[in-house]
Amino acid sequence: MVHRPYIVGNWKMNGSRALLAEARAIDRGAARYKDVAVALAPPFPLIGLLRDEVSAIGVGGQDCHTAPKGAHTGDVSAAMLADIGADFVIVGHSERRRDHGETDALVQAKAEAALAAGLGVIVCVGETLDERDAGHAEAVVTRQVDASLPTGDGVAEAATLGRLSVAYEPVWAIGTGRVAAVEDVVAIHAVIAARLTARFGDAGAKVRILYGGSVNGENAAALLAAPGVSGALVGGASLTADAFLPIVAAAGTGEL
Ligand code: 13P
Repeated sequence: MVHRPYIVGNWKMNGSRALLAEARAIDRGAARYKDVAVALAPPFPLIGLLRDEVSAIGVGGQDCHTAPKGAHTGDVSAAMLADIGADFVIVGHSERRRDHGETDALVQAKAEAALAAGLGVIVCVGETLDERDAGHAEAVVTRQVDASLPTGDGVAEAATLGRLSVAYEPVWAIGTGRVAAVEDVVAIHAVIAARLTARFGDAGAKVRILYGGSVNGENAAALLAAPGVSGALVGGASLTADAFLPIVAAAGTGEL
């Protein structure tokens, strides 16, 4: 079974209850593309509200703690996300690695906590501009994949079920309008795919590898048609139905 393309909107620290109207519009539009898996990851306060407003799309968090509960003021556990109806969680986004000093080991523990709570997980990797300019993009991404992906029993099964995804988000392409060249995306996705197969065998081929970084309605079709690209993680262009649905349409075969 090859999983459907996966188009995920990461609202980051944006939105208010007023933006739930956009989520409803995205949900209605996504329902017309049954061959595309669509999801939104709003900020924590909106997850439960958004969950109650949508039916065709998945809903997820943008981070979780490694522990199921306890004395961790301000944190949210994967179990709590599952409890309010989230389907998945994003871990290791470069903004969290940067803003909160998250290491590969911490990201790995978060991914393991997410799977243990029954959530799907999207593990983010990607090099900085300095790393790319120094010719280290492949090495950095390889290190991140090897050290950030979950380990343990059940990971291969989660991969087979489509509950494990990797998002390649070159840091220099995030929010900059500077999308990566398709050939560079293909090259890095091939590196990631090889690491996944080395690690998980046949199940590794079931892990979706998303591209993220300045994806929009204009560039989505070329990126999503590229070999090894099984979806997109979208920031700015996921905040309105008008911007997001053309990306969903580009991943599917239906008419918008
Ligand atoms: P932009 O689509 O705004 O570049 O953000 C990408 C991203 O970081 C998604 O997680």
